Amino acid sequence: MASMSDLGIVRDHIAAARSLVVLTGAGISADSGVPTFRGADGLWRNFRAEDLATPESFDRDPRLVWEWYNWRRELIASKRPNPAHDIVVEFERRCSQFWLITQNVDGLHRAAGSQRLSEIHGNIWKVRCTVCGVVEENRDVPIPILPSCRHCQELLRPHIVWFGESLAADDLARCATALRSCDVLLVVGTSGVVYPAAGFAAVAKEAGAFVAEINPDPTPHSGIVDVSLKGRAKELVPFLL
Ligand code: OAD
Repeated sequence: MASMSDLGIVRDHIAAARSLVVLTGAGISADSGVPTFRGADGLWRNFRAEDLATPESFDRDPRLVWEWYNWRRELIASKRPNPAHDIVVEFERRCSQFWLITQNVDGLHRAAGSQRLSEIHGNIWKVRCTVCGVVEENRDVPIPILPSCRHCQELLRPHIVWFGESLAADDLARCATALRSCDVLLVVGTSGVVYPAAGFAAVAKEAGAFVAEINPDPTPHSGIVDVSLKGRAKELVPFLL
């Protein structure tokens, strides 16, 4: 468990920061009941990413992919933000230069009230037309399979960045600017193995930021951060306000 003195050090840095970036992963939503991807109960233990979360798998079997996303939509629809999501909103309110970078597609940061954020892996509540490219919010649970675009009637896909796909260039540029100019980066609940987000802590560190992480387990970030707070997001993040 994180020590009170380490928590105090991170809290003081956050309170003094003129520019704060928070990077989150599935661990922050684990405390809301959303399954993570890796680890003992992780989704990738029971499902093969290459069958469900690649452009090739969607081309091969869009029905199967949509069924999996329908299952996840159903699961996430009943989940609510937890105190860690709420405190991130409070950080945003208090810090004039704030940016939240989340790898999560569950929309819980938005549901909590976060506004200055990049959802770099997309959002499970958005769909994108495979032909005309229009992106729209869609909260149907279940979504009718196969869903079609209301503008051109072609096939819709989840607006999610799958393995082998690139992040949106404007998102990446926005994140790079925030990471290079922040005083403090707080990394919460990510295994730190999926790039480019896995490289973000190093970018901020090299640019001179104070970097802290919150995670119950060691990660590849643990060796480079200034303080590693061992524990759960919903228990530790509220100590940092
Ligand atoms: P992972 O599932 O890889 O890692 C979750 C991390 O959260 C692990 O390091 C856990 O130790 C930690 N964790 C678990 N419970 C926690 C808690 N209560 N509080 C804090 N931390 C906790 O999830 P990500 O790192 O987000 O891609 O995975 C990155 C990407 O891989 C995801 O965005 C997803 C996946 O494939 C897409 O959806 C495109």
